[in-house]
Amino acid sequence: MRDKIRKYTEEINSFRTSRKEELEDFRIRYLSKKGIIPGLFSEFKDVPADQRRDIGLMLNELKNTAQEKFDQILHLLEAAETVQKPSLDLTLPADFMETGSRHPVSIIWNEIIAIFSRIGFTVAEGPDIEDDWHNFSALNFQEEHPARDMQDTFFLQEQPAFLLRTHTSSVQIRTMEKTRPPIRALFPGRVYRNEAISARAHCLFHQVEGLYVDRHVSFADLKQTLLYFAREMFGENTGIRLRPSFFPFTEPSAEMDISCFLCGGKGCRICKGTGWVEILGCGMVDPAVLDNCGINSTEYTGFAFGMGIERIAILRYQINDIRLFFENDIRFLRQFRSAL
Ligand code: PHE
Repeated sequence: MRDKIRKYTEEINSFRTSRKEELEDFRIRYLSKKGIIPGLFSEFKDVPADQRRDIGLMLNELKNTAQEKFDQILHLLEAAETVQKPSLDLTLPADFMETGSRHPVSIIWNEIIAIFSRIGFTVAEGPDIEDDWHNFSALNFQEEHPARDMQDTFFLQEQPAFLLRTHTSSVQIRTMEKTRPPIRALFPGRVYRNEAISARAHCLFHQVEGLYVDRHVSFADLKQTLLYFAREMFGENTGIRLRPSFFPFTEPSAEMDISCFLCGGKGCRICKGTGWVEILGCGMVDPAVLDNCGINSTEYTGFAFGMGIERIAILRYQINDIRLFFENDIRFLRQFRSAL
């Protein structure tokens, strides 16, 4: 009896399996009603009285060992099973993940900055909420200028005036007040005008302003810089045309047209038959503006230009309604893909 118990103890101790069926065989062999261990217990009644204590202990130990072995392996197999059958089926094809696309305003914003940064322009930004000095007075706007009217400008407070900037030219002033020439910078940002919203006008849009101030900056520099920009933005065959204009802060001032990139100048819907499309305002920084910012206008000259980002995007993508930029309709937005 002792030898049998030792033999089974050894067998049980060395038992290993990773299969449930083999574990069940183990249970049937040792632990079931007709199994080895209950069999040994029934033989126990024949054990002579002087050995009963020892053999009884050995038998109980054998039974515990078998039960523990069984429980332990069962537990491991069950744990492995729950890991192996999660709800995730790794053989399924992956779900399609929608990638976002950039907003057309961001695409053009980035493109304008990339084009000018190749010729040494840096980027700065200013606040959307401005005071009268930076948006108007320092830029040479007369007291009675119509832009100062409530009809054209969103005033947040009248005295002292706080307003939503009507153009990014305010950032020219902030930059010239705190940096000395040479200055060669771009100022992109959001601007606000108190206008009725329609397909052609919105009360908010984006501009990029450019400023170059140094000794001997001339109108020829302005013209060549803008020609470079027009060709990078609209194609190498693009021509430019400067028409005299007026801005309080530049003298002389001009508006720039580009030759129509759609019809090449023959006349079409985009250029309304003229062969030219207007894209920006520009001019030589008025000496009074330089002086307002503490830059000596007898020593330095500069040029500035400003353009609407939506305007460029409307031309580039042939969009017919400016409101589309602000509605966040993804059927509109997902049409724009860009590396920038
Ligand atoms: N600030 C002008 C506008 O909003 C554009 C401009 C900028 C013109 C710089 C000349 C020089 O229309």
